[in-house]
Amino acid sequence: MAIVAPSFLSANFLQLQEECDKINASEAEWYHLDVMDGSFVPNISFGIPVIAALRKATKKVLDVHLMIVEPEKYITAFADAGANVLTVHLEASVHLHRIIQQIKQHGMKAGVALNPHTSVSLLQDVIVDLDLVCLMSVNPGFGGQKFIERTYQKVRDLKAMIIDSGSHCLIEIDGGVTLGNAKKLTDAGADVLVAGNTVFASQDPLETIRLLRLA
Ligand code: DX5
Ligand code: ZN
Repeated sequence: MAIVAPSFLSANFLQLQEECDKINASEAEWYHLDVMDGSFVPNISFGIPVIAALRKATKKVLDVHLMIVEPEKYITAFADAGANVLTVHLEASVHLHRIIQQIKQHGMKAGVALNPHTSVSLLQDVIVDLDLVCLMSVNPGFGGQKFIERTYQKVRDLKAMIIDSGSHCLIEIDGGVTLGNAKKLTDAGADVLVAGNTVFASQDPLETIRLLRLA
């Protein structure tokens, strides 16, 4: 059973309450919230006030994915906004170990995201400290992109590292997840499936979420 994390980047922002009602009624356990700064990635999405508003609309886990430079500057703000999982990019974090500790000190689960070109081997020295590793299976910045096939091998390598180290960290896949690749991802070791386009552009989002969860 996978944890399904619908990505609100693909939601209808004019009807956010209805979108929340829909996801709240579904079997998805997490909300995936993508924060982009136009610097780390070539796009700008939404930020702290929107996340604080979504906090009031759901009891589900708010899984906040920061695609921003200098994420350490905003840890307190995202904790106050109600984030439960806070994920920073390894490529944007000069002092990653310190950032992980700070996220946990603020009462949140600590996640690290890796771009498609970044080797999972770079996590060897922090894997026991992590609650989540987010493997980007597209280049971050936009929804609706094509899944990068190399990701399966990265999931297997990361799973082996987690088992070897005794870490309890979850593996999340973000980008291009569909009903066609979900099972192959969970078979490889994925625990959390982010899905933007696949859920929000679906004719029947609740059924799509149900099927992703069974993957
Ligand atoms: C991409 C974001 C993803 C995105 C996924 O930069 O991190 O969370 O919303 O969208 P889909 O599932 O449509 O590829
Ligand atoms: Zn994301």
